[in-house]
Amino acid sequence: MDDARQSQPSAVREHDVRQLAQRHLGERGALMPILHEVVDRLGYVAEEDIPVIADVLNLSRADVHGVVTFYHDFRRTPPPARQVQLCRGEACQSVGAEDLYASVTSTYAHAPEVEVREVFCLGNCALGPSGLLDGRLVGRLTPERVAALVGAESSS
Ligand code: FES
Repeated sequence: MDDARQSQPSAVREHDVRQLAQRHLGERGALMPILHEVVDRLGYVAEEDIPVIADVLNLSRADVHGVVTFYHDFRRTPPPARQVQLCRGEACQSVGAEDLYASVTSTYAHAPEVEVREVFCLGNCALGPSGLLDGRLVGRLTPERVAALVGAESSS
């Protein structure tokens, strides 16, 4: 994600969200795909997005807010600079994913610029423990390798 999306002016964001939502008008169950698209394209669902989406879909703000807050997939704040997702699927567990997860979450527990989350099977089982660094698939992870990748990405 580029930094421009994190600091997008309010009027521009409203315009983008309205256009994005209008593209789904007429679809059955349009709210979920709209929210997913807002997160994919803009990084998160801002509080100011909720009335815009509600207006387009002719729903109440409470309806939209309820869905946004019920599903944890819908990030509500700008994402951190680095996102590390570590696989805790069975195959990765068999090659040390649990210890890796514990170590990495501990390392970045007080680093707001790095978010560590768990995922379950990335289809890269043969090269476990696997993970995603800012969405890029990486395998054979160790705590040292994660630190090197986070550091390399941060300085690039
Ligand atoms: S279990 Fe980790 S990639 Fe499949």
